[in-house]
Amino acid sequence: MTPPVADIAPPKTKRKTETWSPDKSSELYGVETWGSGFFGVNKNGHVTVRLEDDKAQAEVSLFDVIDGLRDRGTHLPVLLRFRDLLHSRIEQINESFKKAIKDLKYRGEYRGVYPIKVNQQRQVIEEISEFGKRYHYGLEAGSKPELIAALAHMHDPEAYLICNGYKDEEFIDLALHAQKMGLRVVLVLEMPSELDLILERSEKSASAQSWGSSSPLHERLRPLARQRWRQISLWPQCFTSHQRRRSVEGSGHIDCLKMLHYHQGSQIPNIAAIREGATEAVRMYCDLVKEGAPMGVLDIGGGMAVDYDGSHTNFHSSCNYSVAEYCADIVEVISQICDKAGIEHPNLISESGRAVVAYYSVLVFNILDVTSAQTSEEAPPIPDNAPQNLMNIIEVNKVINKKNLQECFNDAMYYRDQMRAQFFYGAATLRERGLAEAWFWHILTRISNLIADLDDIPEDLRELSSTLVDFYYGNFSLFQSLPDSWAIDQVFPVMPLHRLDEKPRHRAVLADITCDCDGKIDRFIDKEDVAKILPLHDFKQGEPYYLGVFLVGAYQETLGDLHNLLGDTNVVGVHLEKGKPVYTHEVEGDTVADVLTYVEFDPKELVTRFRTFAEKAVTEGRITPKERREILDLFREGLSGYTYFES
Ligand SMILES: Cc1ncc(COP(=O)(O)O)c(C=O)c1O
Repeated sequence: MTPPVADIAPPKTKRKTETWSPDKSSELYGVETWGSGFFGVNKNGHVTVRLEDDKAQAEVSLFDVIDGLRDRGTHLPVLLRFRDLLHSRIEQINESFKKAIKDLKYRGEYRGVYPIKVNQQRQVIEEISEFGKRYHYGLEAGSKPELIAALAHMHDPEAYLICNGYKDEEFIDLALHAQKMGLRVVLVLEMPSELDLILERSEKSASAQSWGSSSPLHERLRPLARQRWRQISLWPQCFTSHQRRRSVEGSGHIDCLKMLHYHQGSQIPNIAAIREGATEAVRMYCDLVKEGAPMGVLDIGGGMAVDYDGSHTNFHSSCNYSVAEYCADIVEVISQICDKAGIEHPNLISESGRAVVAYYSVLVFNILDVTSAQTSEEAPPIPDNAPQNLMNIIEVNKVINKKNLQECFNDAMYYRDQMRAQFFYGAATLRERGLAEAWFWHILTRISNLIADLDDIPEDLRELSSTLVDFYYGNFSLFQSLPDSWAIDQVFPVMPLHRLDEKPRHRAVLADITCDCDGKIDRFIDKEDVAKILPLHDFKQGEPYYLGVFLVGAYQETLGDLHNLLGDTNVVGVHLEKGKPVYTHEVEGDTVADVLTYVEFDPKELVTRFRTFAEKAVTEGRITPKERREILDLFREGLSGYTYFES
């Protein structure tokens, strides 16, 4: 488990000579707990990823991978994708269901489907369709574009293609045609009103006969927004479910009802909730069979959580179960209830998304600069004729001791605020206000140093250390690459990729390069709760300092947006051949011209406009013709360049 962040020294205290090791870093950043065996720290102090090399496994340094990219001219930020990790998760989920089915003598089959919405990138769909063949692993499409991508890639007649989402004629026609072509396409009835359209389209299509007898219709229990991932009750949907059953009965097509589908929501951290959801669903399934529906398939949706913080608890960024426990519990609940009801075990489908792709991608960026906390060990000067409030702050500094920390903190804050008010009303100068602020931070630094020796820290002062942080500016956009960090306060494991043989001495938060005050990461994984700081090393100008954000393969890539017109990052797939990293599936990130085009600018027209402006400047004698050429070259280069900081 990640040790509490308090284990690292508070800022600027006297450094004890203490040995540090890569193992300590591994423990500090919790790599063993959230890394799921895929990530580690080597003796050189580099983060490693475990890749396959001709059926053996090898630990590859991410620092070396980035070095290789730098030699090839690929700029950071870059999203690294590791296909081996994706394969491994598909294998783990399928093998775990297989084992649970065997152990519990379950009489149905398991077939997984991958919900395209979780990461729609072509490489993901291709890898899943190709590697998944051995398990007849299918796809779930929630929209027309997703269905079209799925139809072009998945041609295994044994695998399922589940169609969720709201469907128009075109969507339904495509699905019905694909059924005729031999694919196991399943239309999930999202709303009762969809039924008429599906019946009409299937009657119109030449497959009307086979539709009448075998086209599966589906019942969906509870589509939950991903953001509401902690809610699990299924009751409110029973009414809707009843309505749907009535409409299916009324249509005279109860024989078409083959599958019950539910989805509890994403990232369900508690196995009890998973069991509860499955229990209710399987009871509904059994009753539908008793009502005369042939059924045969139960689709349990997604929801299998990822242990982002490595705490293995039911905290929202973790989960208190393993993949094997999840599979065993689902199979057990369903078989027990079906056995009691005397109903045949259904074939099982699960739509795990996050649990399949989260590990696959790592976002890597470099630190550009650091703004240190305004801490100051050194006392600021004492001015002549200082205003009374400033003198009062200086007095507070004289009397600080371990017993009056709270009082001194309150007084310093009070007099600092008084000085601000005096400045506001014109009764103090900017220089005097600046001195008051400097004394205030000096007092806070001293209080923070003294707190470190206390057994019992006063309540108000506990938060103090989180205000004395250094801002590390990272070359990335939170809104583009980690949208869930902003939108739903999701925490991801973040850590330096090298220098892990050195003790990190700074208490940092991360700021991105958008100019939005929300563009920062100030919530980090922690074994107890959520940490407010990330331990980082000294930043040395001119030397690279690389950070990685892990487990970002699910949802982050396509939910990101163009805030500040920072576009898609470079993407590179990495695998091993003969002990060497091989870079494939490289996708260049957006250029400036690309992102401007997305917001309806025409790059050519931009050049024309700027050229006209530059020529006017020449005519008016502000610049020379030679300068005009240089400025225009710069403008064109800017258009074709990366949207992120290029060094
Ligand atoms: C219908 C459906 N199935 C599956 C998923 C994937 O869920 P998860 O990524 O939590 O496995 C979702 C996403 O919320 C969904 O809406």
